[in-house]
Amino acid sequence: GTNIFTYFNQNKQYFLSGVGWTLLLSLVTVVFGLILGIILVLMRLSKVKPLKWIAVAYIEFLRGTPLMVQLFIIYFGLPSIGIEFPKFLAGAIALSLNSAAYLAEIFRAGIQSIDKGQLEAARSLGMGHSMAMRFIILPQALKQVLPAIGNEFVVIIKESSIVSLIGITDIMYQEEVVRGSTYAGLPPLLIAAVLYFILTFVCTKLLGIAERRLKTSD
Ligand code: ARG
Repeated sequence: GTNIFTYFNQNKQYFLSGVGWTLLLSLVTVVFGLILGIILVLMRLSKVKPLKWIAVAYIEFLRGTPLMVQLFIIYFGLPSIGIEFPKFLAGAIALSLNSAAYLAEIFRAGIQSIDKGQLEAARSLGMGHSMAMRFIILPQALKQVLPAIGNEFVVIIKESSIVSLIGITDIMYQEEVVRGSTYAGLPPLLIAAVLYFILTFVCTKLLGIAERRLKTSD
């Protein structure tokens, strides 16, 4: 008989390859999203007004438009003005640009949650502003926002499924390939769901462990 396990086994190479691409894309996205998110929050909190405005506009626009539209602009739109990216890069760029906007807001909330007195105390001990930020404010802020950053990673694993629409061979793309070739409706979709769930579940558990470690170091 064909239960879901034998069905998975018969199409294993597709699904596992999909898991690989989904994971790779999510990891690349988190790295570049974090870097860009840090740049954005520094601009957002900067006293230089134009920098601040650019960051605000960027964050609002990327959070206020669908990721799918952003992805399509980068992959289908930009080539018409001569800017062309291979699929994987286009997907990674779209996801990173999008995630950075959300991460910048997470960082901002974290930084603003640290009591102003901390900065003043550090300054009164003779630290410069950037030194106080770097050694007093940011380490505390980072601890504060770690759960939210972890949550963003989980969101990215799930939202990355949109890249199957431009032909990146992630879990969702492979699911469609298998579904099309076997004429089975439910099994490939259930397998895709379980695979995403395993990824997000493991990710959540690992982040929980990291969080508890940081807490006990207080
Ligand atoms: N489905 C949402 C959209 O299309 C996802 C946004 C991505 N969210 C995130 N935290 N990076 O806009």
